[in-house]
Amino acid sequence: SIQPVILSGGSGTRLWPLSREQYPKQLLALDGDETMLQSTVRRLDGYAGEVEAPIIVCNEEYRFITAEQLRTCAHPSHCIVLEPFGRNTAPALTLAALLARGSDPVLLVMPADHVIRDRGAFQSAVGIGARMAEAGSMVTFGIVPARPETGYGYIRCGDESSPGVRAIAEFVEKPDAVTAQQYLDSGNYLWNSGIFMMRASVWLKAIGELNPAMLEACSTAIQRPARDADFVRIDVEAFERCPADSIDYAVMEHLAGRPELGIAGVVVSMEAGWSDLGAWDALWDVAQKDADGNVARGDVMFEGARDNLVFASDRLVTCLGVTGMVVVETPDAVMVADKRCTQDVKKLVARLKDGA
Ligand code: GDD
Ligand code: MG
Repeated sequence: SIQPVILSGGSGTRLWPLSREQYPKQLLALDGDETMLQSTVRRLDGYAGEVEAPIIVCNEEYRFITAEQLRTCAHPSHCIVLEPFGRNTAPALTLAALLARGSDPVLLVMPADHVIRDRGAFQSAVGIGARMAEAGSMVTFGIVPARPETGYGYIRCGDESSPGVRAIAEFVEKPDAVTAQQYLDSGNYLWNSGIFMMRASVWLKAIGELNPAMLEACSTAIQRPARDADFVRIDVEAFERCPADSIDYAVMEHLAGRPELGIAGVVVSMEAGWSDLGAWDALWDVAQKDADGNVARGDVMFEGARDNLVFASDRLVTCLGVTGMVVVETPDAVMVADKRCTQDVKKLVARLKDGA
């Protein structure tokens, strides 16, 4: 069976002012009626194989809203692991793998903040991944790159071992812009989608070899998990000692160069309308647009305006004659931005934090 593990710990600063530290993006309904967390849980509805109730790993601060959002869509026996603070994705996955160890299930690791349009295509890729993971591989899902994005991992593909499955010849997390452009031009790289599959024991072996301090800290932190209702609490002091690192840097980048680990990294191609809604421009890209290319949520009116994205939460927002803008209105902050600059929203957020 498949054990879904949902990573729900990010804050999504590039979606300010809608996402806040108090309200990260996976808990928002950015793309339709469901929140991104809820869509992630539902992504396996109707899957042909057996699926366990999900394990969600999130920050303690969001426990009530997370539990509330899951109540309506997840299997009732789901469990929510509460991190007192974030240590990035590798410890989050390690905690889940330790909790799930029982029958050495195949973990399906899903970020809570992606859009996947074609659920059927996603589930068939997962079906292929499940077979590879059962056999002991570390499975990534690859996306054909569309631009020289520097915020993603890149996978150089080796030989195709079975239809849609290739060896990971090299994994490079977040290359610089020049390198990303070379990868794009070469035609031999896929983006890492950030979705992974592997047996719990395979992950624990990899992290034990590559970052033993992380495995040790996580094992101690979850030795005597305190359960109340659907929450699992961990030992704060032990987790404090845990080094921070991502799945990509801690493990994926090393697999190809460390054959002695005996863990094969593979990439399964996924054409499922995947998008990491990292910034406002990505949301405009995937959203349903009106005939003028405008996307609106809330009370919005356009006149002679094209290709804009407007979120109105409290007030009427009107746009006259403007093109390619992002306008986000919330009770205490309004952002007006050129759509081409939305990657830089994090600069605004940094300045606001500094009080500059
Ligand atoms: N529980 C928990 N704890 N979850 C976390 C933490 C944490 O400390 N940090 C991040 N997450 C969650 C985020 O909420 C997100 O859903 C997921 O883990 C991935 O983290 P990001 O911080 O968004 O990673 P990224 O976007 O920079 O890079 C990853 O995703 C890309 C595709 O979107 C990498 O896997 C890249 O290689 C990949 O291309
Ligand atoms: Mg991300």
